[in-house]
Amino acid sequence: MTQRPALRHYLQFADLTRDEYAHVFERTRIIKGRFKGYQPYHPLTDRTLVMIFEKQSTRTRLSFEAGMHQLGGSAIYLNTRDSQLGRGEPVEDAAQVISRMSDIVMIRTFQQDIIERFAAHSRVPVINGLTNEYHPCQVLADLYTWFEHRGDIAGRTVAWIGDSNNMCYTWLQAARVFGFHVNISTPPGYSLDPKLTAGLGDVFSVHADPMDAARGASLVTTDVWTSMGWEGEAAERAAAFADWQVDADMMAVAAPDAVFMHCLPAHRGEEVTAEVIDGPQSVVWDEAENRLHAQKALMEFLLLGRVDN
Ligand code: CP
Ligand code: NVA
Repeated sequence: MTQRPALRHYLQFADLTRDEYAHVFERTRIIKGRFKGYQPYHPLTDRTLVMIFEKQSTRTRLSFEAGMHQLGGSAIYLNTRDSQLGRGEPVEDAAQVISRMSDIVMIRTFQQDIIERFAAHSRVPVINGLTNEYHPCQVLADLYTWFEHRGDIAGRTVAWIGDSNNMCYTWLQAARVFGFHVNISTPPGYSLDPKLTAGLGDVFSVHADPMDAARGASLVTTDVWTSMGWEGEAAERAAAFADWQVDADMMAVAAPDAVFMHCLPAHRGEEVTAEVIDGPQSVVWDEAENRLHAQKALMEFLLLGRVDN
């Protein structure tokens, strides 16, 4: 009989300690190496992942579904349109039922409160696959990508250019866990929400001019001007964000060996130029690929604890 680890959820980046991230990243390296070498690794045989999507996705669905298959388990996709979730079944009831029929759940939804309520009524680990407030799985993969390219990130500076969105707040939590600094530049009217930065201390500084935020940074990152759920503001945002575009001039003031990151999907000519995202400093395809392996290591950790084989 296998001992189950204590129930843990991954609802925001701050849910794991630096030491636990060190373990998950080492497992990511091992699991990715096995996959690249065509070595089967099936620690999650007979385990079922349920994926609930209330917003669209390419990478998150693909990486969780393929990842669970690669670990020997299976994955079930639910969305709001085709399930009772879209007809007003309380999230607490859905959590009770879904978690009695599965081993782990991933949710992409709107307010963080929804996933918190689901987790509070779930018997199995719940993973945040993106909420309005956070996208921890993406920054998990992004930091692993940084480590692959550059090693330790402690003491470095990350430049966040653009919207104060789910990716931005997740980078801020990561800065607190890993000991790096984030230079933030958002357009007027789109500044950080103090409720989401409370307790983060001095891990970030705010710069009115995006060029000042990028200056000297080791990692420059941005995201769409309009996130899922804010489509009604797209035209207004396009006008407000016009100067918050990562271009070659901005990369030129960053550190000479700076990398460019973007969680994707990207809009060339809006938040980033084609020259930058398709250029030599961009690591966006590695970020996307590493979603697959980092999330396999995360699911292994949540379901099996500290595996060391
Ligand atoms: N980066 C990311 O989460 O992509 P998807 O929206 O395609 O899942
Ligand atoms: N900030 C974006 C990320 C998409 C992966 C959004 O929430 O739509």
